Amino acid sequence: MIYLKTTEEIELMRAANTLVSQTLGEVAKWVAPGVTTNKLDSIAREFILDNGGRPACLGYEGFPGTLCIEVNEVVVHGFPSNYTLREGDIVGTDCVVELNGYNGDSCYTFPVGEVDEKLLRLCRVTKESLDLGVKACKEGARIGDVANAVQTYAERNGYSVVREMCGHGIGRDMHEDPEVPNYGRRGTGPLIKNGMCLSIEPMINMGSRNIVILSDGWTCRTRDRKPSAHYEHTVAIVDGHTEVLTTFSYVEQVLKDRSI
Ligand code: MF3
Ligand code: CO
Repeated sequence: MIYLKTTEEIELMRAANTLVSQTLGEVAKWVAPGVTTNKLDSIAREFILDNGGRPACLGYEGFPGTLCIEVNEVVVHGFPSNYTLREGDIVGTDCVVELNGYNGDSCYTFPVGEVDEKLLRLCRVTKESLDLGVKACKEGARIGDVANAVQTYAERNGYSVVREMCGHGIGRDMHEDPEVPNYGRRGTGPLIKNGMCLSIEPMINMGSRNIVILSDGWTCRTRDRKPSAHYEHTVAIVDGHTEVLTTFSYVEQVLKDRSI
């Protein structure tokens, strides 16, 4: 069942998604060699609580963190831990914030220190595939158009698309209908309508698309242990226009200030 949101609900979605975007901006300040992923997690948790939100992943079906941590070959749903980030890693931080009963969801994959050009290209192409997915996400289009835009771009650049994990509708629940896959055929799937809120989140692998789930029941990594990247935006369809409710501007401002 797809819940179409009212204007008032979309206003609440804006606030939750702004807070999750700001949270990733705080995390960005700490991503560096020598920092543990537990540290990133506590930065995120404290920032969310200080701003009146609830870390929605924490305790969700038993998930142990505020952030999902995705180092190198980890695709999605990794645990924060005492792992110390190393120069050359990439680390995805996926976060869901609930604020006033509505959820914001976003993910950014960061380079840690100096990172190999090949990994930077994987990150860049994955982020561009997200942008193309967002662009295809228009009133009157279908979910398959979004999926196809992501898949076509990622595969044209020599990468593969994870099949088992998808984007999703979002609102009062972190995961609502419809599913938003990152692969599929144009003109298929649910029609995109005013009032829909959707999280689009390509997970793109450098090697094969196959994944395995570790014995912790959560951590999803590539089967071939080659790296994977993940970016996520949440959008709303309002009066025939697609509004991107999350922004990477907080993260990117931090990354820019650092590189000076
Ligand atoms: N953006 C992730 C997803 O949609 C967040 C998962 S949070 C968790 O799957 F609690 F499920 F880990
Ligand atoms: Co999501």
